[in-house]
Order: sequence, then C-alpha cells, then structure tokens
Amino acid sequence: MKITKYVLPVAGLGTRFLPATKAIPKEMLTVVDKPLIQYIVEEAVEAGAEQIILVTHASKRALEDHFDKMPELERVLEEKGKQQLLEKVRSIIPEHVEVIAVRQPEPLGLGHAVLCAAPVVGDAPFAVMLPDVLIHNSPGCMAQLVELFETQGSSIIGVENVAREEVNKYGIVSLQPDEQGALQRMSGVVEKPTPEQAPSTLSVVGRYILTPKVMELLRETESGAGGEIQLTDAIATLITQEPVYAYTFKGSSYDCGHKMGFVQANLEYALRDPEISAELEQQIQRLAK
Ligand code: UTP
Repeated sequence: MKITKYVLPVAGLGTRFLPATKAIPKEMLTVVDKPLIQYIVEEAVEAGAEQIILVTHASKRALEDHFDKMPELERVLEEKGKQQLLEKVRSIIPEHVEVIAVRQPEPLGLGHAVLCAAPVVGDAPFAVMLPDVLIHNSPGCMAQLVELFETQGSSIIGVENVAREEVNKYGIVSLQPDEQGALQRMSGVVEKPTPEQAPSTLSVVGRYILTPKVMELLRETESGAGGEIQLTDAIATLITQEPVYAYTFKGSSYDCGHKMGFVQANLEYALRDPEISAELEQQIQRLAK
C-alpha cells in the first residue's frame, strides 16, 4: 500500500506570529531562502507524494500561488540567462505531483481541517503534515514513516522526546506495556497534559500516516481543547478500534509556529547552507565576543 496523498492543513490564523502573519500566511515565512511550505512539500515528495492537498483559507491565496506556474517570470529568467534561478523556480513542484486546494471555511481546529480533505483523500490511507514544523534529516521524517507503513499497514505517528516541563504544549502519547524500540504500539494520546498527568514525555510533532477510518471518527468528534475539533481526539478513539503506532523518528525538529523555534531553524539551516555558512560562523563568533 503506497501513501500518495499528503494533507497539509494551512488554514489556521497563525496568531502566535502576529504581526508578521497578518497579511502573509505563516507557512510562507522563509527559513533562509525558502518558505516553510516548500520544505514540507519537498519532504512529502521525497516520501512518494503524488497529490498534495492544501487545506486552505480565502486569506491564504499566496500558498496556492507559490505552487502555480509563472510563465512571465520563467521567460524573463530565461532571456537573462539566469539558468540556476530558473531551475529553482521550475523545481518548486515536480511535474508528476499535483497540488490541490480545498477550503476550510472557518478555522474550527486541526481535526476539522483534516476532515475538509476527506472528499479528495477518499478511501485510502493518507499522510498529514503540519507545515509549521520543520524536521531536518535524510531520509526525511515522512519517508521514514512511509517505509514503516509499507510493512506495518497501521496508522503511525511521528513522536519525539520533550522535557517533562514542556509536555503541556503538545499532544502526548501513552504506550502499551512492554513496548520497546523506536516503533511502539500506542494505548492513548492526550492533548496538552500537565507534567504530573502526562503518561510519557513522547510528543506528537506533526507527521502522521492515518487509515481512512479516522475521517469517519472526525465526523463524530466534538470540539475539545481550546474549543477546537482536535485531530488528537479522533486518534484517541482510533486507538480503541485498531492498532496505532508511535515512531520516534530520526532527525531534529523545529517548531516554527513560535518565535524561538523559527529563529533557531533559520540559524541552523543557514549554518548548513554552503553559500553562507562560513561567513555566518564568523559573524556569530564576532557577536559572541
Ligand atoms: P496551530 O495550532 O499552529 O494554529 O495549527 P495556527 O492557527 O496556525 O497558529 P496559532 O496557534 O494561532 O499561532 C497547526 C496547523 O494546523 C493548521 C494551521 O494552519 C497549522 O498549519 N490549522 C489549524 C488549520 O488548517 N485549521 C485550523 O482550524 C487550525
């Protein structure tokens, strides 16, 4: 079973990043020289995506535009002999990958956003990726999940360890007794528990492979934490009906939905960029003095 459909919910308001996100979608903020959404699409394409389903909002047209062809720009770059830039613009989305936009009329929560993609997803297992979380690794996090899914055939959720005092920011998973290794069967998941209540320190980071059953469950899910329809609540019910696994992926994650994570991502990605890393290192040393 191949995973070809990748749902990218991008209809949220991005309030933690105001005023930057008043007129520009959070997912269009750039880390070094690429918008967040492009890193996510590249991770999806590497994992085998054939359809990218953007769940979007009327105020976020820039996201759809980013993946559209721009013949005038391509012509100008060609005429000026700017081959490298032309390649960059042309390779934003490979020919065999289709970008589809569906609307979430109101930001009623991540679970609701995923449900808006149901008519396009149909009756097949699918991936969900949160575009404000960058994960650096080769192979990418999604490719790691897909490889496991090919043998496992069950829903798999990417998780990573966080400090106990941080658990109240995340969905936290609980595991079946005696589960060991990187892939562990889940017994539950709770949204933003207190450090005392948290069943583990494994947090859900925004990379999921889900069976279509979750769409059925989302239709019945009522609003939960923060008055929003939570994907976590539907997954908690899914766990009572079929096996769901947590996978501690290889790689470093950056939560670009808030200032510190975004700045850290920019710094670390810039330090990995051969064009600017040497000069940046010098600048950092100068500032540290
Ligand atoms: P967040 O929880 O980060 O919400 O959503 P947000 O609205 O983007 O940002 P803040 O909290 O107000 O700063 C995680 C992902 O889910 C999408 C967001 O666009 C983001 O990519 N989302 C969230 C939706 O598509 N619809 C929603 O109703 C909520």
